[in-house]
Amino acid sequence: MQTLFSIACNRWDPEPDAVLQDEAITALEGGKVLLLPHLAFPLPQSEQGLLSPEFLGGHAKNVSLGPDGQIKHSAGADEQREALRHLMERFARQATTLVSSLFPRYAASLERARTSYRPAEIAGRAYSPIKDDTRLHVDAFPTRPMRGRRILRLFSNINPHGKPRIWRVGEPFEDMAQKILPRVREPIVLKNWVLAAVRATHGVRSPYDNLMLGLHDQAKLDDAYQKNAPQAEVSFPAQSTWLCFTDRVMHAAMAGQFVLEQTFHLDVAAMAAPERAPINVLEKMAGRKLA
Ligand SMILES: [Fe+2]
Repeated sequence: MQTLFSIACNRWDPEPDAVLQDEAITALEGGKVLLLPHLAFPLPQSEQGLLSPEFLGGHAKNVSLGPDGQIKHSAGADEQREALRHLMERFARQATTLVSSLFPRYAASLERARTSYRPAEIAGRAYSPIKDDTRLHVDAFPTRPMRGRRILRLFSNINPHGKPRIWRVGEPFEDMAQKILPRVREPIVLKNWVLAAVRATHGVRSPYDNLMLGLHDQAKLDDAYQKNAPQAEVSFPAQSTWLCFTDRVMHAAMAGQFVLEQTFHLDVAAMAAPERAPINVLEKMAGRKLA
């Protein structure tokens, strides 16, 4: 199973030729993880002190920065939190430049969403199965309806001790959906309107959002699937960068510490091959409109 597509690029503002652009977008939309093994996000000496889980507030997994510049779940003195916000802002800008440069056709409709800093070690944390990201899943969020729009995520391993980030990457989306979709029960439509009305969600959830969340939950709850489904372990070295559509790539983060992550949302119409979007795959399988 070929899960990775490597790009030998060491700049955040690359100028890929047409051939590479083509290969990269085909790989990305086809469900591969794009790895840039030589692209690091270096921290100057003045920021090295921020590499510690002590800046993580409460029980949160991540420090989170909204596109509006608001930082959440951070801890520490005001000065340190401000320094962390600067670091994350810089990462968000560079990530946006990189994705726009590698995929010019995405640039116009690329929406910068949340940025996260993940300073805690993953291995050994205990969560309920549905919240456990060491189980294979596609990303789908209960409070963030996408209505078919894509979730593209870019990660940089900034571990200062040379430790890799370890993932498992699973089978193609279509294969997973064939197995799991028949088990997904859809909630009654009314519930979605009620959730939106009480502002529990950012907008009304579509049937697409319900099916994607069902795939996320049912795959995570299935111990036999987790163990037996086709999968490969992937190691992302320290000082490397990678990206994939996490609403399509079955992934599980198994070990590692100190990662920066940028989420983007993208319209299906911006894709080179829109038929590969999960909404179009699922609509074909379900035989009806889902958003
Ligand atoms: Fe995920």
